[in-house]
Amino acid sequence: MAMAALCTARAQSNNTLKTSLDKVRLEFTLDPNGQPVYSVYYGDKYVIKQSAMGFKLAADAAFDKDFRLTGSETASVDENWKPVWGEVSDIRNHYSQLTVHLKQKNAPGRLMNIIFRVFADGIGFRYEFPVQPDLKNFVVSDELTEFALAGDHKTFWIPGDYDTNEYTYTTSKISEIDNRQMVAASTSIAVRVAPDPYAVQTPLMMKSADGLYINIHEAALVGFPAMQLHADRSTFKLTASLVPDAVGNKAYVRAPFKTPWRTIIVSDKAADVLSSKLILNLNDPSKITETSWIKPTKFVGVWWEMQTGKGTWNYADNMDARDANGQLIPNGKHSANTTNVKKYIDFAAANGIGAVLVEGWNVGWEEWFGTWKEHVFSFVTPYPDFDVAELSRYSASKGVKIIMHNETSGSATDYERQLDTAYRFMNKYGYTSVKTGYVGKIVPRGEHHDGQWMIDHYVRVAQKAADHHVMIDMHEPVRPTGLQRTYPNWLANEAGRGNEYHAFAEGNNPDHETIMPFTRLIGGPMDYTPGIFKIKGYSTVRGRQVHSTLAKQLALYVTLYSPLQMAADLPENYASHMDAFQFIKDVAVDWDDTKILEAEPGDYLTIARKAKGTDNWFMGSVTNGNSRASNVSLGFLDKGKKYVAAIYADADNADWKENPEAYQINKYLVDAGTMIHLKLAKGGGEAISIMPATDADKGLKKYK
Ligand code: NOJ
Ligand code: CA
Repeated sequence: MAMAALCTARAQSNNTLKTSLDKVRLEFTLDPNGQPVYSVYYGDKYVIKQSAMGFKLAADAAFDKDFRLTGSETASVDENWKPVWGEVSDIRNHYSQLTVHLKQKNAPGRLMNIIFRVFADGIGFRYEFPVQPDLKNFVVSDELTEFALAGDHKTFWIPGDYDTNEYTYTTSKISEIDNRQMVAASTSIAVRVAPDPYAVQTPLMMKSADGLYINIHEAALVGFPAMQLHADRSTFKLTASLVPDAVGNKAYVRAPFKTPWRTIIVSDKAADVLSSKLILNLNDPSKITETSWIKPTKFVGVWWEMQTGKGTWNYADNMDARDANGQLIPNGKHSANTTNVKKYIDFAAANGIGAVLVEGWNVGWEEWFGTWKEHVFSFVTPYPDFDVAELSRYSASKGVKIIMHNETSGSATDYERQLDTAYRFMNKYGYTSVKTGYVGKIVPRGEHHDGQWMIDHYVRVAQKAADHHVMIDMHEPVRPTGLQRTYPNWLANEAGRGNEYHAFAEGNNPDHETIMPFTRLIGGPMDYTPGIFKIKGYSTVRGRQVHSTLAKQLALYVTLYSPLQMAADLPENYASHMDAFQFIKDVAVDWDDTKILEAEPGDYLTIARKAKGTDNWFMGSVTNGNSRASNVSLGFLDKGKKYVAAIYADADNADWKENPEAYQINKYLVDAGTMIHLKLAKGGGEAISIMPATDADKGLKKYK
C-alpha cells in the first residue's frame, strides 16, 4: 500500500509539466485518479494552488478523471499586432504555450486536450475536444475547473446573476461572500436570477495579503455559456459555474470544439492588471478585413431626459389611449420628436460631437417593460412625430450621425426575425451604428442573458451588423471577453452598472468607478455614459444625486476606456458650464498609447493616454469617497518639448455630497520634467488635457 502510494507520487512528479515566462509559472500534472490538475505561481508565491480541471458530461458523467497523458508540446510566440482601435496602437503577444493530450484509460478512450498559455502577466487555458469516434455531439452538464486561491483574499465582487451585471460592488474577503442581500436589495430591472448565494460574476478582482493582484475572467466567449465562480468560503477555492439553459443543461457541443479561455491575470502591481492585454491576445484576429467604416466616436443623446422623467420614450400614455380612429393619442412628453432631435443634432454639430443617440423613436414603448412578450417593437416603424427621412437629411447636412436604438425587451427571437430589415433600414437612412438593449426576461423563454443560446445570439448580431457595416453597442448583454478584437464593429457594451443608476435608482457608490476598470472593463469597453454636469436637482425624487463631483465626470472619459463615449447630460445643463465642456470636446476616443500612472482597486487610479495620430495627451484621475493628493510625473511627454496643460480640478471646497459642481480650470506650460500635484475632493477627480504649446501660449505661467 505504502509502496503503491510512493510509486504513484513519483510517477506524478515525473509527469509534472512546467512552463514559465518571467515571474509566472504554470505546473500541470495528473493526480493519482488521473484527474488533470494545475497550479500557478508568481515568483515564489502561489497564485493558484493545485486545482482540478475537467467536465461532467450528460451522457457519461465523469470527464475529469481516469486520464493518461499521451503527449504534450510546447511552443513560444512573440509577435506584435495592431488593433483597429484601442488603448494602444500596438500590442505585444508574448507567451509560452503548453498543450497536453489526454486520453481516458477506460473504453472508449475519449480524448481531451488542454492548451495553456503563459504570459508575463498571467495565464490562459482552454479545453479542446478533438475529433474522435466516440465523442461527437454531446451535452456539458458542468465544468469542474477550480481556482484554489492561497488565502482569504480581498475581493471586489458582484453576484453571480444569470441575467444581469447591474450591481454595485461589494468589497469583502472570500470568506464573507454572500450575495443574497445584494440581490434582494436591488432595483427592479424585470429580471434578476442569482440562485447560488456564494456565486460571483467575473472578471473577479482580488488582492492577496502578500501583495498580489489577481483577476479571474474568460476570453473569447463563443459557443459556450458564461462562466461564473462559486466560492467555497472555508477553503477559498473557486469553482467554475456555467450559466444553465432553459432545461438546466450548460452547453451543446460538437467535437471538434474549443472552450473559451479561462484567464488569470496576476502581478504585484495593480497598474499591470489595467494595462494587461492578455484577454485581447487570447481572442482571434478580426474577422472583418475592410475596417475603414469602423469609427470610434463621442455622442450625445435623446436619453437622459427620459432617464430623469422629463420626457418619455412612449408616444402615448398607454396602449389604450386612442382616438376615434384608433390612433394613439400623444402624451405631449415624447422626447424623440423631430424638433427635439434637431436640437441635439445642432448641439453636436456646434461642438464637434460626432453622433446623436435617439431612443424612443419606434413604436412599442407603451408596453415595453416586464411583459415577457415575444413581439414588442418594430425596428422599422417610427412614431408619427419622428420624421426619419427629414432627420436623416438634416443630420447629414450637419455632418452628424444618428445612432439607431433597438431595445428588444429581452426578446432575442423577435429581434433575430427583424435583423435584416432593421439593418437595411439603417443603411437606407444613413445610420452607421446601433445601440441594442435586452431589458427583461429572455425569449426564448427560460433562457438567460448569459446562457449559451444568448452568447450565440450576441455573436450572430455582431456578425450581421458587420455584414451591413453597422457598429454596435449592446446594453444588458453578457459581460465582454475581448471579442471586440474579432468583431471590431462591436464597439462597446454596457453589461454593468452605469451612470444611469443615478437617475432611476439610488446610484453608484463613490468607489464604483475605481473598481470598474479592474472588474467589468477587463473584458472590454463600457458604455458607462459619463459627463453628467448637473449633479443635483435633475430628479423629482428627493435626495437623488450623482455620487461624484463634476470634475470626476470629466476624468471618467480617460479612466473608463471606451471607443464610444457619451456626453450624457442635457445640452442646457452643458450650456452653463461650457468651459468645463471643453474637455469633453477635446478628449479623444482612440489612442496610440496609455500609461497607468497609479492605481489601487477601490481607492484611486490615474491614467494618461495619447490621442491617436496626434501629440495630445489626456489625463484622468479619480478617487473613491476619500479626498486624495498625489504627485505624478509628466515624464512620458516628449523631452524638450513645451506643452499647455489645461487642468480641470475640483475646487478647494468641492466634495461629492455637499458641493459637487465646484471646479476650477487653470492653464500652464508644462514639459517632461513637470510634476503635477493632483488634489481630488471626496468622491472627486481631475482631468487634464496636454497639447503642444503654440506661440499664442507664450504668456502662460510655467506649472510649479
Ligand atoms: C436600459 C439601458 O441601459 C438604457 O441606456 C436605455 O435607455 C433603456 N434600457 C431603454 O432601452
Ligand atoms: Ca442597463
